Amino acid sequence: MIHAENLSVSYDDVDALADVDLDVDEGEFVTVVGPSGCGKTTLLRTIGGLQEPTTGTVTVDGDPPEVAQSAARLGFVFQDHTLLPWKSAVENVTFLRRMAGKDPDPAGARDLLTTTGLDGFEDARPSELSGGMKQRVAIARAVHLGADVLLMDEPFGELDEITRDEMGVEILRLWRKNRKTVVFVTHSVPEAVFLGDRCLVVAADGDADPAANGSPGRIVAEFDIDLSRPRDESVFGSETFGAQVARVRGALHGDT
Ligand SMILES: Nc1ncnc2c1ncn2[C@@H]1O[C@H](COP(=O)(O)OP(=O)(O)O)[C@@H](O)[C@H]1O
Ligand SMILES: [Mg+2]
Repeated sequence: MIHAENLSVSYDDVDALADVDLDVDEGEFVTVVGPSGCGKTTLLRTIGGLQEPTTGTVTVDGDPPEVAQSAARLGFVFQDHTLLPWKSAVENVTFLRRMAGKDPDPAGARDLLTTTGLDGFEDARPSELSGGMKQRVAIARAVHLGADVLLMDEPFGELDEITRDEMGVEILRLWRKNRKTVVFVTHSVPEAVFLGDRCLVVAADGDADPAANGSPGRIVAEFDIDLSRPRDESVFGSETFGAQVARVRGALHGDT
């Protein structure tokens, strides 16, 4: 579904990302974990057609990302939820479909808001919602768009840990129901393990050595996450979970 080859991205004076080869299958949930500044957002933006690669190619279902994006086959959820403050939750959810020239389907939007735990808040404005609730609206909006691929960039980054865990369970429930292909970026190792079928570890050489600052991020390790589905909060206490978190942490700190 997503195919990237020999991808690198350099900004004016920063090499952000290098040597990325990546394949994500249809319906797969792939997580990308790494320290801040290692190029995770750059990778996601490049897959999404928001950033031109410096070398290499990316395709989404065989097409350039720009094509997939303009056909509303890509949905984005960012840390900064970017809801329209003057519109209600439902109107925010239908907005992207409207923009894409699709039937806005407000009834479907209300259903999705119920599924994401916002029963009773459908007509509330963003200012009346908590951070977690706003992020639920943003997720419902991306799912409602009907995109095949969801690209999520630290969507729970600003939430407290408990809400974060709940949102993780929620996102897995939605994913089971809708079977999107997901690329989910996070700097939290437990989150990456809990959510993913597969976890990619991104790091730059300089991460362990500030003096070497400026080297690009690369995919340094990749793990199949060996946890059965469906997963819920009970997973967090399991030994297998702890072992996989330790493995990913090890890769982040340069052990192999
Ligand atoms: N638009 C930009 N212009 C110049 N440098 C950028 C830009 N976006 C990101 N960078 C730099 O590229 C590197 C990777 O950034 P980013 O992809 O945001 O990493 P992450 O999401 O992992 O924190 C960082 O050094 C960052 O400062
Ligand atoms: Mg980022």
